[in-house]
Amino acid sequence: MKRIKMPENLPRPVVLLSHRAPVAFRRSADGKRTARRGAGGLVTALTDLSTQLEDVRWVCAAGGGEDVAVAAEHPGEPVPVALTAQPRVVSRDSTEDSVVPLRFVDVPEDQHERFYGVISNPLLWFIQHGLYGANSPDLGDAEHHAFSEGYVPVNEAFADAVAEEVEAAGGSALVMLHDYHFYLVAERVRKRCPDALISQFIHIPWPGPDSWRLLPPSMRERLLHGLLGNDVVAFHTEGSARRFLLSAQELLGLRVDLDTLTVEVDGRTVRARYYPISIDVASLRELASSKAVVDRIEDLSQNLAHGECQLILRVDRTDPSKNIVRGFAAFGLMLEDHPELAGKVRFLALLQPSRLDVPEYAAYLSAIAAQVARINARYDHLDYEPIDLRLIQDLPLAVAAYSACDVLMVNAVVDGMNLVAKEAVVVNRRDAVLVLSENTGAHQELGDYAVTVYPYDIRQQADALYEALTRPREQRRANLRDAAGVIERNDIAAWFSAQLADLAR
Ligand code: G6P
Repeated sequence: MKRIKMPENLPRPVVLLSHRAPVAFRRSADGKRTARRGAGGLVTALTDLSTQLEDVRWVCAAGGGEDVAVAAEHPGEPVPVALTAQPRVVSRDSTEDSVVPLRFVDVPEDQHERFYGVISNPLLWFIQHGLYGANSPDLGDAEHHAFSEGYVPVNEAFADAVAEEVEAAGGSALVMLHDYHFYLVAERVRKRCPDALISQFIHIPWPGPDSWRLLPPSMRERLLHGLLGNDVVAFHTEGSARRFLLSAQELLGLRVDLDTLTVEVDGRTVRARYYPISIDVASLRELASSKAVVDRIEDLSQNLAHGECQLILRVDRTDPSKNIVRGFAAFGLMLEDHPELAGKVRFLALLQPSRLDVPEYAAYLSAIAAQVARINARYDHLDYEPIDLRLIQDLPLAVAAYSACDVLMVNAVVDGMNLVAKEAVVVNRRDAVLVLSENTGAHQELGDYAVTVYPYDIRQQADALYEALTRPREQRRANLRDAAGVIERNDIAAWFSAQLADLAR
């Protein structure tokens, strides 16, 4: 039974667009086709939702040759895939609940590299997360070329795929675009499909107009105009929505209304909105009680979190915005301040290597490894390894660690939302304390129940970790209960329904 009720007056089908696909097909060494779920917060959130919609299709990037091969086996139509824990292609008349038709878009590799490896990550990602220092970025011929011969044509290709899906459905649809990879899609879809209702959700922070001045007008104005092709541009926080409107006002000279959060463009009204994304609490809790997770909890309790020994946890992609190196520096400092904790606390870091084709990311992964080696080496003589670094993507292990940890550290420089914080508070069983950066979207909902950290201040983060580890049990329990309550009340279904209700209006 599909659980999401679409308001009557909304057009159908729902056409979703994201860069990352909810499934990745590969060939294993023995030549067999494998399928696993896509990674990252956005896909995790949308996957469960998409399976609950009556009439949906999902346009996404082919992530490799095997995705292309699967798509080629379904000429002229999307691939029906059951998006279960173990995804698989099913027959087109399957009536299984979890089936979502996927349209894989394949663009030439060099074009994709310019779109993804030069413009989207790092340029847009770094601007929007405030990661550039005084001397960056350098915009030369390579970047201009990457924009005009990468970002633009790739956006056109995805816009055309979306428009074809809308046209195939008779020209009217609810188009839901996602993220910074696709700022130019809405404008083009609107031209081809004027009857479609188009919204775009931006899962990363939107900075103020001055940050966008890192880009020349030829790029920033094009990106903003592209986005204004939407009917609604949505963010996780009110701050981002307001800064988006301020950018339209200052950089394009448009009339905006900060009370109604609207902007007038070409005789249309575009709305900026905010909806804090969340998680599927029921399905996460179900996973938390599965055998795979329970076995891993057992293992963690024997080796890391037991009796006297407390466990600090972080679960992240190895992204500079996650602030992993400073987080370890703060932990190292705390151990120096409190030598009595040596041997009594361990830091488990489950880190998923990410975007290694981007030089900044490759360098960051090396910096993480070097920092861990430095801190661990200090305690060699005690036969104590303070940091257990695992470069791994293992959802059952992450959920087991959420459940077994005493402190969860989320010290991101900036983060649109941060779903790790939300996931951990609903499954933890040790009255864990959340150490949470004030610059995460999640802080707006969970800040009252967390120890707040200021991401550049290593001294303060060291003190915050100590405070978290020594918080009285009663307070820990009450905070965790209240934090979980907030997430239960605003789960992923509420996030989505709020958007549908607004769109219907
Ligand atoms: C963030 C972004 C997503 C992205 C994900 C993983 O959550 O908002 O759009 O898919 O990171 O990044 P990747 O580049 O590996 O898809």
